[in-house]
Amino acid sequence: VLGFAGSLRRASYNKGLVRAAADVAPSGIAIQIVDLADIPLYNQDVEDAGEPESVVRFKLAIATADALLVATPEYNHGTSGVLKNAIDWASRPRITSPLKDKPVAVMGASPGRGSTARAQAQLREAFVFTGACVMPQPELLVPEAGSHFDGDGNVTDPELRQRIAELVDALRYWASRIRIREAA
Ligand code: FNR
Repeated sequence: VLGFAGSLRRASYNKGLVRAAADVAPSGIAIQIVDLADIPLYNQDVEDAGEPESVVRFKLAIATADALLVATPEYNHGTSGVLKNAIDWASRPRITSPLKDKPVAVMGASPGRGSTARAQAQLREAFVFTGACVMPQPELLVPEAGSHFDGDGNVTDPELRQRIAELVDALRYWASRIRIREAA
């Protein structure tokens, strides 16, 4: 599973969610974490001249993963530009995009009460257009993140760690259903 968060912040709650997923993943599931910091802003002129090395690496990592686990922050009632930008790169060219048919689970944490509900809805919508298969349930929304994380963005709440493990397990089942459908 390839995991990434749409925040560049060192002590990001959403990076912390992905790290916790790697810690608590059931046996047999390895989560490889990538950072989106070196992905440049999407520019079709740059793409036409040849994709930057960081984008090639990112797309290859998506292509070789069985599934994606994505944590989104919420900025102004939407997902972050960092995350949307990375998806925009990975969605191109549409016909060979590694996102097509890729099983994806989304999650998110924010200090407010809205808990990234709107960001996750927007992210799901973008993934649907790329042809990715976004897992409908369970949802993982973490409001008032300050009480579930330490100052370095590590998940300290055992109940949340358990919910993250359940999400990863559900993603395994979701990915297996998609593989069966593709093989049929
Ligand atoms: C925010 N934040 C925020 N939170 C939220 O729940 N709903 C929102 O619409 C917004 N809007 C927003 C806009 C901008 C520009 C910033 C910088 C922040 C707060 C945000 O959830 C908080 O900074 C999180 O800590 C960001 O996620 P990471 O970096 O901890 O993963």
